Amino acid sequence: MAQPGRAPLAGARVLLGVTGGIAAYKAAELARELMRAGAEVQPMLTESGERMVSRATFAALTGRRVPASVWDDPAGVEHVALARWGQVLVVAPATAAALALLAAGLADDLLTNVALAFGGPVVVAPAMHTEMWEHPATQASLQTLEARGVRVVPPASGPLTSGDVGPGRLAELDDLVAGVTAALAPSEAGGLAGTRVLVSLGGTREPLDPVRYLGNRSSGRMGAAIVAEAVARGAEVTAVAAATAVDPPAGARLVRVETAQQLYDAVLAEAGTQDVLIMAAAVADFRPKRVAEGKLKKDQGVPEVVLEPTPDTLAELGRRRRPDQVLVGFAAETGDHLAGARRKLEAKHLDLVVLNHVEGANSAFGADDADAYLVDAGTVEELPRTSKAAIAARLLDRVQTIREARG
Ligand code: CTP
Repeated sequence: MAQPGRAPLAGARVLLGVTGGIAAYKAAELARELMRAGAEVQPMLTESGERMVSRATFAALTGRRVPASVWDDPAGVEHVALARWGQVLVVAPATAAALALLAAGLADDLLTNVALAFGGPVVVAPAMHTEMWEHPATQASLQTLEARGVRVVPPASGPLTSGDVGPGRLAELDDLVAGVTAALAPSEAGGLAGTRVLVSLGGTREPLDPVRYLGNRSSGRMGAAIVAEAVARGAEVTAVAAATAVDPPAGARLVRVETAQQLYDAVLAEAGTQDVLIMAAAVADFRPKRVAEGKLKKDQGVPEVVLEPTPDTLAELGRRRRPDQVLVGFAAETGDHLAGARRKLEAKHLDLVVLNHVEGANSAFGADDADAYLVDAGTVEELPRTSKAAIAARLLDRVQTIREARG
């Protein structure tokens, strides 16, 4: 029986401050993402934010009035009313100027007035050119904010406006939603403190010759979201990463592997000391039986590739598991997907299977969000199309519940 999934931000009231960087257009997508996670979103644009995107965009997206300034309704003392309404304040993108104003406590517009009147958790997501990000003034603002308990979702590295490349891009939507979720869940914040969690992620590569390999489409984004969430909840995290399209988040011990065999060796070497093992990696089931020593050449004819099975890490973890360990597997299924996930759950002695569709338009590979189900021995929890960060948060909620039930 499918149970409705609990949206990770169900009922949360989020104040969204949008300041004037080019990434302001991404804040519209963030508003939508937060709402998909169950939140009510009240946007507030600074004057420069409004030069980048219009208030109408946010009003249409959120169904809420978007006030322009404290002078819209002086009698209503709107900045105080908004500050009382919100449960979390997120400023995304946060320009260098916005960070400086927030750090200094300077209230010169609606957003900064709300920020001063607001007593709840604050999340800032800086986005700016690398030079401005690295400037000591900006770094000092950040330090001040962090010392005050503000959660900083750091910028990513990548292409910036005017063709430059470097740190300064607004963080990925998944990381922003995870930041808001974590800021709102202080009870979960230390929920995995003292717990050792191993997460495998990415896709293995099985060499054919020194330059070619058999691989798969896994980006490692799901595993990276689990690592980030486990770190945020205070766990001691080991990330065993095969090939990934994203850098595994900071805060975890990173072990890099390439092949299914290396992944098997690395995970099993660590398994005995772990409390929770989550196998999000897409591991090759087969590898070329023979790896050519030199590069295979066209003029040698079409090679015949004979495959042999790889060791199944998860099955071995299931065989060796301690009764107190929590073991989570992933299933990427086509066709009768629930039956396949249930088979895996039983055959590999798992507590939970995260089931993804890998067919057609709903394929989870490489996407920022996914259709997923959490399947255990008795129930199927459906997580309607939601972000990988939200899936990670819900998955770790379930892991915590399993651990609590075991005392
Ligand atoms: N896994 C593993 N070692 C392998 C293959 C898979 O540890 N050699 C893990 C994956 O990390 C994932 C789960 O097992 O958590 C997937 O199970 P698997 O039975 O391999 O599923 P599929 O690859 O989807 O295989 P099939 O549909 O062929 O059963």
